[in-house]
Amino acid sequence: MHIDIITVVPQLFDGAFSHSIIKRAQDKSLLSVAIHDLRDYTPYKHKQVDDYQFGGGAGMVMMPEPLSMAIEKLQESRTYDEIIYLTPDGKTLNQSMANQLSLKGDLLMICGHYKGIDERIRQHFVTMEISIGDYVLSGGELAAAVLTDAIGRLIPGVLSDSTSALTDSFQDNLLAPPVYTRPAEFRGWKVPDVLQSGDHRLIDNWRAEQSLKRTKERRPDLL
Ligand code: 6GU
Repeated sequence: MHIDIITVVPQLFDGAFSHSIIKRAQDKSLLSVAIHDLRDYTPYKHKQVDDYQFGGGAGMVMMPEPLSMAIEKLQESRTYDEIIYLTPDGKTLNQSMANQLSLKGDLLMICGHYKGIDERIRQHFVTMEISIGDYVLSGGELAAAVLTDAIGRLIPGVLSDSTSALTDSFQDNLLAPPVYTRPAEFRGWKVPDVLQSGDHRLIDNWRAEQSLKRTKERRPDLL
């Protein structure tokens, strides 16, 4: 999979994909991510990319020409499966959307800033609009990083069996059960006996029970 990201603050991505699982995905050539500075595509003087909104009101809007020029330039080398605009009024990201996107080949993500991007770009170029939750961020960059992480770790071959995405919270609409590691007793607090029993049937049952209990208590809306 290849992901291109268009942004006016490329620095926000420094290091975001250079560690852990998303780094491993790139090292294995299962994923590549390229960050593109919108200001490199603007036809305007002083690298202008935004302007006042028609009709008045506070806040700038990202102009259509720099965005369309950036998108069309990138489209010369790729045919995107989706052109995703990260925006608080998009569809709220969930695991099933991440699963579906992880099977795509090439994605283009557009990060908005200020009051957002000119509506005509949304109508004529964007194929999907995604939000990462009901709160406001100062731009789409952190949302694009979240989306890239959520998708990247699901690409077939990225996770090993031991870190399988299949046991994640949400993968089956249940929260994950509690986990423990050594020592078996820490400050007098003991690891549940069943986890040390060596009986895998009992352990699986206990984990399933705990998942259900956690989900009922914390996220009954998932059931
Ligand atoms: Cl995608 N963008 C912004 N600016 N704020 C958000 C968001 C996106 N998702 C949640 N809040």
